[in-house]
Amino acid sequence: MAAAAAALLALAGCTRPLPDAESPAAIAYARQCGLCHPPHQPSLLTAAMWKIQVERMVEMRARRGLPPLTTAEQQVILDYLTSHAG
Ligand code: HEC
Repeated sequence: MAAAAAALLALAGCTRPLPDAESPAAIAYARQCGLCHPPHQPSLLTAAMWKIQVERMVEMRARRGLPPLTTAEQQVILDYLTSHAG
């Protein structure tokens, strides 16, 4: 399981591993937010900026015809990003 997660994150093309890379929240983030571009480092943006970006990206998914994130998934991802925000 940990190896699979590490492989997934490596595939996402990160130069630096994500914080807490093996936590379920980091894995959900890498999986859901790494579909169209490699997942960005959470420290790149402030918590307030992440809130805006996640909302934008939810619209981006809809525009591309991807199934919406569940409210729970969106919350887990936003919590992960804001708790490691810059
Ligand atoms: C359906 C494809 C898709 C998914 C899924 C997606 N993104 Fe994006 N994202 C894009 C595209 C295309 C851009 C560039 C255009 C733009 O910023 O409007 C982008 C840009 C960004 C940027 C801005 C980068 C910059 O340089 O300004 C951030 C931050 C970001 N995405 C975060 C996320 C997060 C967080 C998630 C998960 C909630 C996510 N993305 C999921 C397509 C996607």
